[in-house]
This record gives sequence, C-alpha cells and structure tokens, in this order.
Amino acid sequence: MNISVIGSGHVGLVTGACFADLGHQVLMVDHDRKKIAALKAGKMPFYEPGLEELVHRGVEEDRLRFTTSTAEGVRHGTIIFLCVGTPARPNGEADLTAVEEVVRDVAQAVREYRLIVEKSTVPVQTGEWIARICRGSVRRGVACDVASNPEFLREGQGLQDFLHPDRIVLGVESKRAKELLLALYKPLNAPAVVTDVKSAELIKHASNSFLAMKISFINSVAQICERVGADVMQVAEGMGLDRRIGRAFLDAGVGYGGYCFGKDVAAFTQIAEKLGIDFQLLKATARVNAEQRQRLVKRVEEALWNLNRKTIAVLGLSFKPDTDDLRDAPSIDIIRSLRQEGAVIRAFDPQAMAQAKALLPGVTFCKSAYEAVRGADCLILMTEWNEFKELEFARIKKLMRQPLVVDGRNLYQPKTLQQLGFRYIGVGRGEPWDQR
Ligand SMILES: NC(=O)c1ccc[n+]([C@@H]2O[C@H](COP(=O)([O-])OP(=O)(O)OC[C@H]3O[C@@H](n4cnc5c(N)ncnc54)[C@H](O)[C@@H]3O)[C@@H](O)[C@H]2O)c1
Repeated sequence: MNISVIGSGHVGLVTGACFADLGHQVLMVDHDRKKIAALKAGKMPFYEPGLEELVHRGVEEDRLRFTTSTAEGVRHGTIIFLCVGTPARPNGEADLTAVEEVVRDVAQAVREYRLIVEKSTVPVQTGEWIARICRGSVRRGVACDVASNPEFLREGQGLQDFLHPDRIVLGVESKRAKELLLALYKPLNAPAVVTDVKSAELIKHASNSFLAMKISFINSVAQICERVGADVMQVAEGMGLDRRIGRAFLDAGVGYGGYCFGKDVAAFTQIAEKLGIDFQLLKATARVNAEQRQRLVKRVEEALWNLNRKTIAVLGLSFKPDTDDLRDAPSIDIIRSLRQEGAVIRAFDPQAMAQAKALLPGVTFCKSAYEAVRGADCLILMTEWNEFKELEFARIKKLMRQPLVVDGRNLYQPKTLQQLGFRYIGVGRGEPWDQR
C-alpha cells in the first residue's frame, strides 16, 4: 500500500519506518527542512533504540523516502497519517495549529480518494473539524475519509510497542476506511477496537489521563508510607497482583514527565471544562505531579541542611530511560529549583546531554556517573537508565564529599547502600521499624 506520514517526529518516524518494514511504500513528510535533509543523509533526529537500523533498511530497500512537500505526500499516499505535534497552549488546551495547517494543505492537494488518519493526540471532535475542512476544500466528486488511529507507543520502546501493541484503536465513519485500516494493520495480529471517530479520540485522552492518575495516586500513597515507615514498593506489589488494578504505572518516584502525559491531562481537563464538566480527578493528578518534583527538592534540602554551595550529582536527565527526550522532564524543574537555592549541579545522562546544555545553563555536564559524583554532597538518581543499575557504590562513596543518595526512582536496595555507609532516601520508603 502507498502510505504518507506527515510529521517525522517520535511518532511519525517510528510509524513510517515500521510500515516500510512491513512492506509498504512510505513517504515521510515534514516541514522542517533540516530534519528531512538529515534523514536523507541517514541521520536520526532523536534517539530511539533500533530506529536507525529500521530507517536505513527501509531506505536501502527503497520503501522509505523523505520530502518536505505535503502535496507530494498527498499524491503518494492513499492513506495519509497526521503525526504532527499537538503541544499545550498556556491554558492547557491542545494547540491544533499544525494539525489545521496540514489538513488545509492536504485537502487542497487531494485529487482522488484519500483516507486522512489522525495519529496525533487530538481533542475529541477534531475529526469533525477535519471532515469539515475536507468538505469545503476537496474537489467535488472526490471522496475523502477521516479516521482516528491514536498511537500508544512509549518512547524508548517505540518499535516494540508499534509492532506488538496491546490493541489497535480505529475510529472510522465508513466501510472503506475500516477495511483499509484493518488490512494495513492485519500483519500485526493485534486486537482491533473499531469505534466511531469521537470515541477513538476519547480513548487516547482517557488512557493517558488514567495512567497519569495511577502515577499520582501511588505518589500520594508514597507520602503516607514515608510518614508511617511503610514501603510503597511492597504496597504497589500487593495492589498490583490484583488483576483489576495491575502493577503497571504504580511506581512511586519523581512523577511523570515527557511530551504526552502533562499536556494530555491538561487538554482533557480543558475539554471537560468546555463541556461544563469539572474533572476534578485530573486537576488533582496534575497538582500532585507538580508537587512531587518540589517534594524531592525539599527532601534534598532537608537532608543537606541547606543547599547553598552544596554540590549535587544528578544521574539521568531524560524523562525516562532509552530516550534523549527532555520535554517536560522532571529533571529540568528539579535542577532549576536546586540551582535557585544555590546548589552546584554536576549531571550525567547517557543520551540527553547535548539537548540539556541549552536548557540548563550553569550545569556542569560530566562524561560518566563517576565523574559526576566527584566531590558531591548528594547523588540524585533521576532516570533509571540500565547503566545506573549496577554502579560501584564503594567507589562512589570514596568520590563523594558526603555519602547521601536520593533515589528518585526507587532503583536501589536501601539496605545495600546503608551497609556501605550511605544515607539513603527513596520515595515512599520509610525508615524500617527498628530504626524509627
Ligand atoms: N512522543 C510520544 O511518545 C507520543 C506517543 C503517542 C502519541 N503522541 C502524539 O503524537 C503527536 C506527535 O508527537 P511527537 O512526539 O512525534 O512530536 P514531535 O515533535 O517529535 O514530531 C512532530 C513533527 O511534526 C512536524 N510538523 C509540525 N508541523 C508540521 C507541518 N505543518 N507540516 C509538516 N510537519 C510538521 C515537526 O517538524 C516534527 O518533526 C502528538 O500529538 C503526540 O501527543 C506522542
């Protein structure tokens, strides 16, 4: 099948590369000339494990091409995926400027049947707007369908998630659109949930908001654990084995971050508000998450007495492991707050330091975790990259000025570190019974 993907970012590029690998002819479109030039030269615009190999294979086998021309994309693809960004406006609403621009360009260029598929995360009823623009601009007698196919991939595991999804959601309004999309996804052998367009749009916002809510829930439970000396990891384990609850997204820590959860919770709250519904659960989810970042700063401050001129090593900057994405990463807020209190920051991240340099002036970026902890009064584990799992803490203790570990992801065993002489502070891991 001929497919075009407009927006060659984290979602678009994975989508295009995976469809090309499944044997389709894919044309990737982006208005960012630098990005397209880099992709044509074989360079990836961001880090995603396995993506580079997949893109190179698609290009070498002549199934994956790149262009800056939306019109060319419309000529090529019977199915046109919209994967442009939908950032948050200051009031939390989704900014659909890019979606609207692209849809207008697409509608102008359509000359024969095309299926326009929203893959970007958009507010419910966006599909209706897209259909309205198409009705107004597409030439008379030319059929055009609009569908919603929200994407659920996680950065860092994008290829695996795209090729082995839990489910595929297809919001369609015509038999033709349904058949095209079912045929396209058939090789993935995943359960397909076929709905109307509005329900599909809602499935995405509701899913992301629900996952964010689970994280804020367990972070609130973590606070109780800290006060009474219980262990949130054991609580999560006990809750998670109940199949009605599930263990996923019950990891207490520095809170959620990344491009999606924050903006999607905000957008969903705004959608409800516009419909006259006060979605209090979502407001609380966002509030708890923001507070969680500041809570970590407070705990470091309490442990060090004061932060002025204290040196803090931060391990991990990306919002999660296996990505270099810093959008709404907790590390940025936390480091800025620590610096405001006078702390000196030495940071290390396996992939995200190039981008971080522009966002975090005044921070010293180090070549390794061991270089970062040199002379530090505190080590903060911010992102649970694999390489931080097996650090040599005996060596780290010798390098640090004070042996204090603040584990923002509950990655380490408190006892192991305490036996090595560290003071250990996790999230929701109260002091044991006999030490209180
Ligand atoms: N990142 C994720 O993990 C993820 C997961 C699921 C869904 N989503 C959703 O997918 C959408 C895209 O997210 P992303 O992370 O890929 O964003 P991104 O910023 O990585 O990529 C968006 C791309 O769209 C391009 N673009 C913007 N306006 C354009 C235009 N007018 N014409 C052509 N190209 C244009 C940008 O240059 C950029 O390359 C968002 O709605 C997001 O909420 C993201």
